[in-house]
Amino acid sequence: MLTRLPDGFTALVTGASGGIGGAVIDALLASDRPDRVIGVSRYTTHREDDRFSSLVLDITTDAGLEELARKLEDQALHLVFNAIGMLHDASSGIAPEKKLDDLDVEAMTRLFHVNATTPALLLKALQGNLKGRHPVTFGSLSARVGSIGDNPLGGWYAYRASKAAHNMLIRTAAIEVRRLNPNATLLSLHPGTTDTPLSLPFQSRVPEGKLFTPAFVAQRLLQVLDHHGPEDSGSFLDWDDASILW
Ligand SMILES: NC(=O)c1ccc[n+]([C@@H]2O[C@H](COP(=O)([O-])OP(=O)(O)OC[C@H]3O[C@@H](n4cnc5c(N)ncnc54)[C@H](OP(=O)(O)O)[C@@H]3O)[C@@H](O)[C@H]2O)c1
Repeated sequence: MLTRLPDGFTALVTGASGGIGGAVIDALLASDRPDRVIGVSRYTTHREDDRFSSLVLDITTDAGLEELARKLEDQALHLVFNAIGMLHDASSGIAPEKKLDDLDVEAMTRLFHVNATTPALLLKALQGNLKGRHPVTFGSLSARVGSIGDNPLGGWYAYRASKAAHNMLIRTAAIEVRRLNPNATLLSLHPGTTDTPLSLPFQSRVPEGKLFTPAFVAQRLLQVLDHHGPEDSGSFLDWDDASILW
């Protein structure tokens, strides 16, 4: 697993209470390679493993990002797996738009903030941890529906556009981070439709055999991260290691 990273590597996983984030933590802890796995979430997360620690903070806020940077100091991170993202939120009436009439400025702003701005600000906050010459892999969860070239269905305006913006921000940061650390690799990842709270309201439309378990997706995405080094930094890849049209 993650053969590009040194033995005893340190991993940071955001969205640790989420379906895919939690499964990535489990997959990492099932290996003896990492010495430290840090789960970042708005909620406390537990694992019966001394290598695991939980940071309770909200990286969608300035205060949360400042606290994250303070807690980590400048210790080197080797793997950063960003698993936050949102599609809907019943408590604030946010649901994917079916038509132009459904567009709402607050919902769009929220989705852009969580899905696009926050991953970029996370990179900003972690520069001191990525800087140097140590191997770094930064994987951030995007979505295939963020592909502009492959959008046959329309709808889901804010989610699609925020993920397209996510991919542009990661690709742009990849160019700058290369100067910070020539051994860093930044990738945007599509997990495939995965059985989590995010996809729950839409699962009835998923074809038989196409709804993945978080454990399967975590294992596949870690393999994808293992297959790509700095020469591929900024790419947009799916769980099957295929490149996705921008
Ligand atoms: N599931 C799928 O079918 C699918 C398909 C394509 C792409 N994706 C992408 O995969 C990523 C992970 O999704 P998932 O399926 O694991 O969903 P999930 O179980 O809902 O987890 C998403 C996590 O994102 C964070 N989050 C969501 N809304 C937030 C908000 N308003 N403020 C702060 N944090 C918020 C939460 O982290 P904490 O609660 O831990 O703070 C949450 O646990 C997302 O980026 C999603 O777009 C998923």
